[in-house]
Amino acid sequence: MTAPRSRPADNSWVQGAVDHALASGYQAHTATLRGVVRQRLVTRALLAHLPTPPGRILDVGGGEGTQGRTLARLGYEVTICDPDPAMLRRAEEQLSDADAAVRDRITLVRGDGHDAGSLVGGGWDGVLCHGVLMYLPDPAALLHVLAEVTAAGGVISVVGKNASALALRAGLQGRWHDTLSLLDEEPHTAAPTVAEIGNLGVPSRADDPRQIQDLLVAAGAEPRAWYGIRVLTDHLGDTPPGPDLDTVLEAEWRAGERDPYRQVARLYHLIHQRRPLDPW
Ligand SMILES: C[S@@+](CC[C@H](N)C(=O)[O-])C[C@H]1O[C@@H](n2cnc3c(N)ncnc32)[C@H](O)[C@@H]1O
Repeated sequence: MTAPRSRPADNSWVQGAVDHALASGYQAHTATLRGVVRQRLVTRALLAHLPTPPGRILDVGGGEGTQGRTLARLGYEVTICDPDPAMLRRAEEQLSDADAAVRDRITLVRGDGHDAGSLVGGGWDGVLCHGVLMYLPDPAALLHVLAEVTAAGGVISVVGKNASALALRAGLQGRWHDTLSLLDEEPHTAAPTVAEIGNLGVPSRADDPRQIQDLLVAAGAEPRAWYGIRVLTDHLGDTPPGPDLDTVLEAEWRAGERDPYRQVARLYHLIHQRRPLDPW
């Protein structure tokens, strides 16, 4: 692991206590049906857009490495860059059970994604940033870094919380007061983001996927696809995956790739492709 780096001053929103809650809550979440749906749908979309392995993948905020290990098993060389030592420790623990070949294809780097250019350099075939923007006060700077470190023609994959449909989970769970507050907060007009206390008990923001797309276009990346994640299962709390998992995944996938369903998914998954740099 490389040496710890300090975060930018404006990133104080996510600090030690939040990191700790995230690290301990996130591992439990990953095993639930909602967690499995999220990771499996993301992998399916990635494999439709990434170049075939081998290729160099940077996972910014890759956390405990769930997606990174899957890609490394498929033959990609994966670098996970994450500021949270607890998350990286879990990633290391999980890797101790993996095949030596998979372990060799994963590098863990401790550091803030805003510093990715100096920490891990550029020219990546794929740059992932999944479930990170919601913990930042403003997504624009990190989106610029993602585009900067991606090779021309490379893929940028961003997963975040969808601000357009925050009330849906509360409504389907029968939490009617929460539903009304969230409906009041939704950004029907110009407001870019909405904050709420998420499932992991830490404050997190949501964004309108169209605004994230616009920011990525401004950073030099063309939109290729937009998927919704957890249209049909988001209200199921900590329900574990059941024997019908494959059918659930297929239903979620088909709903998440089309309108109007993807518009009300809990999470958006955007795929962009880095434009070639302008000639001098
Ligand atoms: C909810 S976890 C998501 C982990 C993984 N990407 C996934 O989808 O399973 C959020 C991760 O974002 C990381 N994170 C928070 N702020 C970050 C930043 N400024 N740069 C990079 N990663 C950050 C946290 O340490 C944590 O590992």
